[in-house]
Amino acid sequence: MKKILILNGPNLNLLGTREPAQYGYTTLPDVEAFCKAHGEKLGYAVECFQSNWEGALIDKIHEYGRLHAAGEALGVVFNPGAFTHTSIALHDAIKGVGALPVIECHISNVHAREEFRHHSWVSPAAAGIVIG
Ligand code: DQA
Repeated sequence: MKKILILNGPNLNLLGTREPAQYGYTTLPDVEAFCKAHGEKLGYAVECFQSNWEGALIDKIHEYGRLHAAGEALGVVFNPGAFTHTSIALHDAIKGVGALPVIECHISNVHAREEFRHHSWVSPAAAGIVIG
């Protein structure tokens, strides 16, 4: 069974209580349980990982690059949180692992928010984007 990684960056562990007007009341464990159940129905093994540390997210992308190259992973769905707008290192990590498809995902419509959220370093390296 091929693996899919649901990868969440900084502060997304606070979902449910963090600015609910912006991000809603659903918790990260709720989101992860939904993704696991849905993935299983489609025949995939879903792994979920969240970290507030940039390097831990980079290590996970590298790991999935290796799994993808070995034919053991399909790709990654990644909400990089605020690192979206700051991290050239995440951009380089995604580019660096080559063919691994990474879908950038945001709960809120970042383009309808503050200007500092309009730019993403991740988007040019992503295979697709889901926003809002
Ligand atoms: C976010 C948007 C980012 O700008 C913000 O820093 C987050 C969450 C979203 O899912 O809407 O942490 O990635």
